[in-house]
Amino acid sequence: MEELIRITGSKEAQYKALIPQIKALIDGEVDLIANLANTAAALKQQFEWWWVGFYIVKNDELVLGPFQGPIACTRIKKGRGVCGKCWQDAATVIVPDVDQFEGHIACSSQSKSEIVIPLIKDGIVWGVLDIDSVDFNSFDDLDKLYLEELVSIFQMTFN
Ligand code: SME
Repeated sequence: MEELIRITGSKEAQYKALIPQIKALIDGEVDLIANLANTAAALKQQFEWWWVGFYIVKNDELVLGPFQGPIACTRIKKGRGVCGKCWQDAATVIVPDVDQFEGHIACSSQSKSEIVIPLIKDGIVWGVLDIDSVDFNSFDDLDKLYLEELVSIFQMTFN
């Protein structure tokens, strides 16, 4: 297996170089958990965000999946917190300042801003990608664009 090449340059340049590497990394591997785990690791390694991980819908709750970073809450109900809102709305949520988001679930006091991207198959949200930063205003429409492109790789349902 090749090592991930760490990319320098603008955020857009980083995404443009990283996404093909992640695609190559998971190409030919059908195990979803393995692929989510390597994707979380690749994003964390490249961008050095505080927390990068997946929650998977199981029995009408989001349950913690593969992640990189400090321990996190294991179950989130629909509509609760940033992840639960993303799931309910089936849309990416960008939170520039977590203290201003009513109902934010603070897994870590270090987290200052957050982005959550839905994983959708046939119109149904089956999970979310959650990323936390120790800085305010870390995420914008560029992150939304490229992270939505990235998660479109996972066009499969969870079994
Ligand atoms: N902050 C999230 C909870 C998950 S942790 O950040 C890993 C939320 O409000 O849904």
